[in-house]
Amino acid sequence: MNDTTLANLGHEARRFAPPADLAANANLTAAAYEEAAADRLAFWHRQAERLTWQTPWHQVLDWSNPPFAKWFVGGRLNAAYNCVDRHVEAGAGEKVAFHWVGEPEGDTRDITYVQLLEEVCQAANALTELGVRAGDRVAIYMPMIPETVVAMLACARLGAPHTVVFGGFSADALASRVLDCGARVIITADGGYRRGAPSALKPAVDEAVAKTEAEQPGLVEHVLVVRRTGQDVSRSDKDVWWHDLVAGQPTTHTCEAFDAEHPLYVMYTSGTTGKPKGILHTTGGYLTAAAYTHWGVFDLKPETDVYWCTADVGWVTGHSYLVYGPLANQTTSVLYEGTPDFPHRGRWWEIVQDYKVTILYTAPTAIRTFMKWGDEIPAKFDLSSLRLLGSVGEPINPEAYVWYRETIGGGETPVVDTWWQTETGAIMISPLPGVTNAKPGSAMIPIPGVAADVVNDEGTSVPDGSGGYLVLKEPWPSMLRTLWGDDERFVETYWSRWKGMYFAGDGAKKDEDGDLWVLGRVDDVMNVSGHRLSTTEIESALVSHHKVAEAAVVGVSDDTTGQAVCAYVILRSAAGDGGPDIVKELRDHVAKEIGAIAKPRQIMIVPELPKTRSGKIMRRLLRDVAENRAVGDVSTLADSTVMNLISAGQSSAT
Ligand code: WT7
Repeated sequence: MNDTTLANLGHEARRFAPPADLAANANLTAAAYEEAAADRLAFWHRQAERLTWQTPWHQVLDWSNPPFAKWFVGGRLNAAYNCVDRHVEAGAGEKVAFHWVGEPEGDTRDITYVQLLEEVCQAANALTELGVRAGDRVAIYMPMIPETVVAMLACARLGAPHTVVFGGFSADALASRVLDCGARVIITADGGYRRGAPSALKPAVDEAVAKTEAEQPGLVEHVLVVRRTGQDVSRSDKDVWWHDLVAGQPTTHTCEAFDAEHPLYVMYTSGTTGKPKGILHTTGGYLTAAAYTHWGVFDLKPETDVYWCTADVGWVTGHSYLVYGPLANQTTSVLYEGTPDFPHRGRWWEIVQDYKVTILYTAPTAIRTFMKWGDEIPAKFDLSSLRLLGSVGEPINPEAYVWYRETIGGGETPVVDTWWQTETGAIMISPLPGVTNAKPGSAMIPIPGVAADVVNDEGTSVPDGSGGYLVLKEPWPSMLRTLWGDDERFVETYWSRWKGMYFAGDGAKKDEDGDLWVLGRVDDVMNVSGHRLSTTEIESALVSHHKVAEAAVVGVSDDTTGQAVCAYVILRSAAGDGGPDIVKELRDHVAKEIGAIAKPRQIMIVPELPKTRSGKIMRRLLRDVAENRAVGDVSTLADSTVMNLISAGQSSAT
């Protein structure tokens, strides 16, 4: 993190107190901080009682073999039962679980809890017919349609861990995830809708299956396909239509309870090496923290709230705050298939108005985009139902925070800036909407039950007013349990820098009041529109192109997306100047290897890259060039003239 950023932060004078009525009726009050501080494990014990357990646990936490935690030892439960059945049994069957809004206007469906139960049972029966048993992995590659949630819950019901792969990822990305976790079945759709037109998914699955067949023949046994768009799809003998197999199944299914530590899902995320990490979440602790944080941080009142989390289910936010947390809390949610700008730039606000959404949870990049589009767009809609706003995915700059609060929230609505990660499974740092005098741009302090701190290089807690590394000092129920199939990398990546501390990879500052300001990643991980991308992963995608000899990727500041991908590429001599379309060719290649979200915004063809004497690329200097700054200290470069070559090439190109 640079010193100017540090100095500028934490001088924010504005404070927003909770509205009086929210504070008076808040789910979480200031007393929760004291209760959790007095006895953290007893506090989590009480949170786990939000769930229905078939067998109670006899120990809250087993931390005898750190960093491998066991939470709620001996407890048994079924996650799908907790998300669906128990609400129907409690008489809430007719309550809407999801107001689903398809992208084509008028293509909507309300799904009640009893309907959800029946569909989950049918899907569980269908997966059983396909041979899926507890412990088997199932990959899900879907658009934002009700069947996606049904598929996830059916897997959970059977104890078959799912791995949801974001529909924007490429066939290669899907194949590598399927191979890494050994998925036997892939659930997909013919396609989904994107900006008014059907966008195919099935061809990528066909390509991915061909790849897995080449590496591990017979691994993928079945591909279950939902018909969403009706577009033509090629058929193989592994393919089964969802409507043929699922629709005829019985609408009841007796579920089995699983151990609290039974794997619930694997979610892949980018790390500092080229290989994505399979974050493993288990059942009891994960569901406890997802339910508790959703209830507490969003002050969820299941009887009256209409909640909308805009994340795609392909990311962890979609898992914890679109599916597991909200359903465990018997929430009525909006599930939207499309983009914010189709068929018009007021689509989200129209949805808020039509469904009287009370709680909205989205990302800073979306907020900044709406700011750019202008206040007159949201002004056309009635947003008075909103009472709470949330932000996640990257630091929210104070301007965007205040705009969100004023323009979307009507000036009265608290904004909770929630810090967490795929690895943490649930929100760790956030204001509490009924308690905190929130500062725009600060995630404030850890929520009750969580121990976060900022430490220096030696691992010592820094005083107020200083910066350092963000760490978690005590285990928490929704912590990742390991990386799928790689305990060693799990220990090495998260637990080896300082003894007994989980290192999150983020830099942070404590201001004079001790409130936390998350500054962003300190490793080679970029954050583009709230999505995590690895510099190394994109570099390896670039060098896999036949014209490329070497590549260096950096994340550079971008007004809308937070960071943007910028690549420096050295071509092979045989490729000459690469040809007139070289930049487009390379951008498309990255999209094919990883997915469109990883496409570099800018690619510069350069003769050399700045390296240290030991051969490490000095990305800091490349960032200086990309952000048009004076190039910093070059004294550790093996060849200090390299930067002149790059800067010269850069100015002639622009
Ligand atoms: C990284 C985790 C957690 C769901 C979405 C992203 C950044 C996340 C905030 C925030 C500042 C944030 C961090 C973190 N981040 N929320 N409120 N303020 N930074 O999940 O892909 O696992 O990324 O997102 O850098 O390490 P993810």
